[in-house]
Amino acid sequence: MELKDKVVFITGSTHGIGAAMATAFAKQGAKLILNGRKELSEDLKNALEQENVEYQYLQADLTQIDLDELSKKAWDLFGQIDILVNNAGLAKDKMFIGMHEADFEKVLNLDLKVPFFLSKAVMKKMNKQRSGVIINLSSVVGLHGNAGQANYAAAKAGLIGLTKSIAREGALRSIRVNAIAPGMIDTEMTQKLSDRVKKNILEQIPLGRFGLAEEVAQGAIFLAQNDYVTGQTIVVDGGMTI
Ligand SMILES: NC(=O)c1ccc[n+]([C@@H]2O[C@H](COP(=O)([O-])OP(=O)(O)OC[C@H]3O[C@@H](n4cnc5c(N)ncnc54)[C@H](O)[C@@H]3O)[C@@H](O)[C@H]2O)c1
Repeated sequence: MELKDKVVFITGSTHGIGAAMATAFAKQGAKLILNGRKELSEDLKNALEQENVEYQYLQADLTQIDLDELSKKAWDLFGQIDILVNNAGLAKDKMFIGMHEADFEKVLNLDLKVPFFLSKAVMKKMNKQRSGVIINLSSVVGLHGNAGQANYAAAKAGLIGLTKSIAREGALRSIRVNAIAPGMIDTEMTQKLSDRVKKNILEQIPLGRFGLAEEVAQGAIFLAQNDYVTGQTIVVDGGMTI
C-alpha cells in the first residue's frame, strides 16, 4: 500500500514508540491523527512541522472516555482512517503473588480493553470502507512471559489472540491486522528500570543494545505497506528471544 495521503491514527503518540511512528508515517507522506493525555510537546510539533505533515491531535486519556465517540471524532477529522495503531500502553510490575487487583485492572484496561474496543469501533467503519490496517503493540513478554509482569504479559498475549482473530474476520473486507512484539526499546518505559536490571537484560540481547523507537516504527511501516501480511506478530528485539 502506498502511504502517501493515507490517514493514520496512532494512540499514545506523544512520546516513545508512538512519537517515532508519527514521524515515520509523516516521512511517508501520511496524514496523522495523534493522541496523548497531555499537550503535544514542542519537540514533536517541530519534528512534524519539519516533515510538513497534515496532523490533528486528540488529547484524551483512553481509559476515561467513550471509545465509540473517540473513533467517530477521529474518523470525521479527515473523513477516513486507513491505519489504526494501538500503541498506548503501560506496565505496572510486581511479582505475581503480591500483585493487587488494581495493578491488573489498570494494565489490562489500557493494554487490552482499549485496543479491543477502539479496534471494534474503527473496524466497523473500515468494513464499510472495505480496506484498512490495524497494528497492535504487543511485546516479547506476551510471547514468552516475564517474571514480575504477569499482568502486562497477560494483556500483551491477549493482544496477539485478538490480532489473529480479527485478522481472520477483517480479511473478508480487505482489512489486515498485525502485531509488533518489541523487546527492550529505549523509551521512558524502560528508562525507569534500575541499572542492575538493565545490565542483566543487556546480557540477554545478542545485538548487545536496547532497540530504538525508530526501529519499531520501521516495523509498523512494513506492516502498513505490505498487502499480503495479516495475523502476524513481528518481533523487533535484537535477537533477545532467539
Ligand atoms: N519500550 C519498550 O521496551 C516496549 C517493549 C515492548 C512493548 N512496548 C509497548 O509499546 C507501546 C509504546 O511503548 P513506549 O515504550 O513508547 O511507552 P512510553 O511509556 O514511552 O509511551 C507510552 C505512550 O502511551 C501514552 N499513554 C499512556 N497512558 C495513556 C492513556 N491512558 N491514554 C492515552 N495515552 C496514554 C503516553 O502518553 C505515551 O505517549 C506500549 O504499548 C508498550 O507496552 C514497549
